[in-house]
Amino acid sequence: MKVEEEIRDIFSHMRGVIEAYQDIGLGPPPLSADTLRFLSPDQSTNPVLNIRNATQPEDNSDQQIHPASLEGLREHIGNCERCKLHQSRTHLVYGEGSPVAKLVFVGEGPGVDEDLAGRPFVGKSGKLLTKIIEKGMGLTREEVYICNVVKCQPPKNRDPEKDEIEACVPFLKKQLQSINPEVICCLGRVACQALLGSGFKITLERGKWRSYEDIPLMPTFHPAYLLRNPSAKRQVWEDVKMIMKRIGLEVKTNG
Ligand code: URA
Repeated sequence: MKVEEEIRDIFSHMRGVIEAYQDIGLGPPPLSADTLRFLSPDQSTNPVLNIRNATQPEDNSDQQIHPASLEGLREHIGNCERCKLHQSRTHLVYGEGSPVAKLVFVGEGPGVDEDLAGRPFVGKSGKLLTKIIEKGMGLTREEVYICNVVKCQPPKNRDPEKDEIEACVPFLKKQLQSINPEVICCLGRVACQALLGSGFKITLERGKWRSYEDIPLMPTFHPAYLLRNPSAKRQVWEDVKMIMKRIGLEVKTNG
């Protein structure tokens, strides 16, 4: 047997093992991002490891993302040009915080400040969110995870469009799968609809527990809405207190 054939056999076997894992509902075995990329179906440029092409159609869609770690996923996303938002962005805003956070906040998409900084929620809305996390919950930003539905700023701060959300939401879902938090807090309509469906009505349905992939999810108002409607802060505080109880934080009665 030629060396090339032998290598092909070995990797073909490994692919079979990975697929068997997936067939019984397990994630792939813990291989490094590099190895998974090496084994990925898109080996058309690799003359030795063109494993699947002969028998099965390629599926390079982001619904089939392999990387199990947040870092691996960031690498997979790369210098993304999957939707038109890349044309006007300064930085892709991936998300930040603890990879083992109990609580993940999901916003809509970066604004001007976030686009410039490459970090989520650092502008006016971000300052309010930080206050909620630090003063309200007694946590730090580093202890939670903060990310968005779309990773690049929509021009003029418009809402992200359907095609942009569809291109980016697989990455949000993979981030959530990787972190597997105890609670997800969706900030505003866009985040809620991305995870709960387009029928979700934020004004009617905020403050009531929902779930995403068996993870409890609390829908609440976006901090930008609170800046425009300060009286809604009371409702958000009620939602935040429910989250705190759920993740085992002490809620001070006069808080
Ligand atoms: N608004 C969002 O939804 N996300 C950010 O990161 C900043 C503002």
